[in-house]
Amino acid sequence: MKQTAKIYIAGHRGMVGSGLERKLRKEGYTNIVTRTSNELDLRNQQLVNYFFEKEEPAYVILAAAKVGGIHANNTYRAEFIYDNLMIEANIIHAAYLSSVTKLLFLGSSCIYPKMAPQPLKEEYLLSGYLEPTNQPYAIAKIAGIELCDSYRAQYGCNFISAMPTNLYGTNDNYHPENSHVLPALIRRIVLAKRNNEPSVTIWGTGTPRREFLHVDDLSDACYFLLQNYNENGLVNIGCGNDVSIKELAEIIVAEAGYDGQLVFDTTKPDGTPRKLMDTSKINSLGWKAKLNLKEGISKTLNEVINQF
Ligand SMILES: NC(=O)c1ccc[n+]([C@@H]2O[C@H](COP(=O)([O-])OP(=O)(O)OC[C@H]3O[C@@H](n4cnc5c(N)ncnc54)[C@H](OP(=O)(O)O)[C@@H]3O)[C@@H](O)[C@H]2O)c1
Repeated sequence: MKQTAKIYIAGHRGMVGSGLERKLRKEGYTNIVTRTSNELDLRNQQLVNYFFEKEEPAYVILAAAKVGGIHANNTYRAEFIYDNLMIEANIIHAAYLSSVTKLLFLGSSCIYPKMAPQPLKEEYLLSGYLEPTNQPYAIAKIAGIELCDSYRAQYGCNFISAMPTNLYGTNDNYHPENSHVLPALIRRIVLAKRNNEPSVTIWGTGTPRREFLHVDDLSDACYFLLQNYNENGLVNIGCGNDVSIKELAEIIVAEAGYDGQLVFDTTKPDGTPRKLMDTSKINSLGWKAKLNLKEGISKTLNEVINQF
């Protein structure tokens, strides 16, 4: 990938797209094309085709998607499947029509069956039933992988798919009701410290285990795949280890310097006991995550401490 190559980042204002833009600029890439959703609604095939004809990007990073937590996924089921299918199908087909050199499609770990063994290996795709609450989103993302593989098989397009684990870091969503567990805990612990609250209550027992990857590591992995991976099938991106929610909260408490108590409300549900990606495929290709969770949380706290 030459530094002068024209690269279109779809979804450049999102956490993943902005992380990739930072990474590419740091590596010396300057010919980066972006559009906000107001400037280019990626659900509109005509507009997408016109954009590709006009801009002719050589590389495409597909990080635009309709995303959200369990509540949004479950409530806006039609929007989650329609928007994501349209965005992917329009971009992938336009990339084929305009002979894009390489495209990277981003999905997520929700593509794996609900009861798949842990850690999640790439080969578990389509081996069982999905989690019903986010099935429309997951099916759209599975269709994205299949689109990449089918365009490779029929037309020889170099379209690849990467499935990141839970992400956190710069440009994360800290909405009080609608954010993922890590940013939600950061916000609540920072505010509890500031307001001298004696305790922070956490839903569930604190025993479920989750994996968290800093978005800078994700961007580094995507950059690595853009340069080194040219095959069909998906590639997991994770750090390869998980922590319990209690351990996660303790790291945030220590890094934020909060001296109150953590209270676990065991009347509330725990969710899946464990969710961890098997990262042996990307590790064997030569990539490993660099930031450990403590460093990543410390970096994140420094960025957001005055935001709330
Ligand atoms: N965040 C995570 O923990 C995580 C984990 C694993 C995988 N991923 C995957 O990474 C991808 C990006 O996630 P993210 O967290 O970066 O999401 P995000 O922060 O919500 O950003 C999504 C971006 O998509 C764009 N977009 C949405 N609908 C669009 C439309 N109709 N037309 C044009 N642009 C549209 C938005 O553009 P505007 O800002 O211009 O409106 C936004 O910048 C998703 O595929 C997601 O599954 C994320």
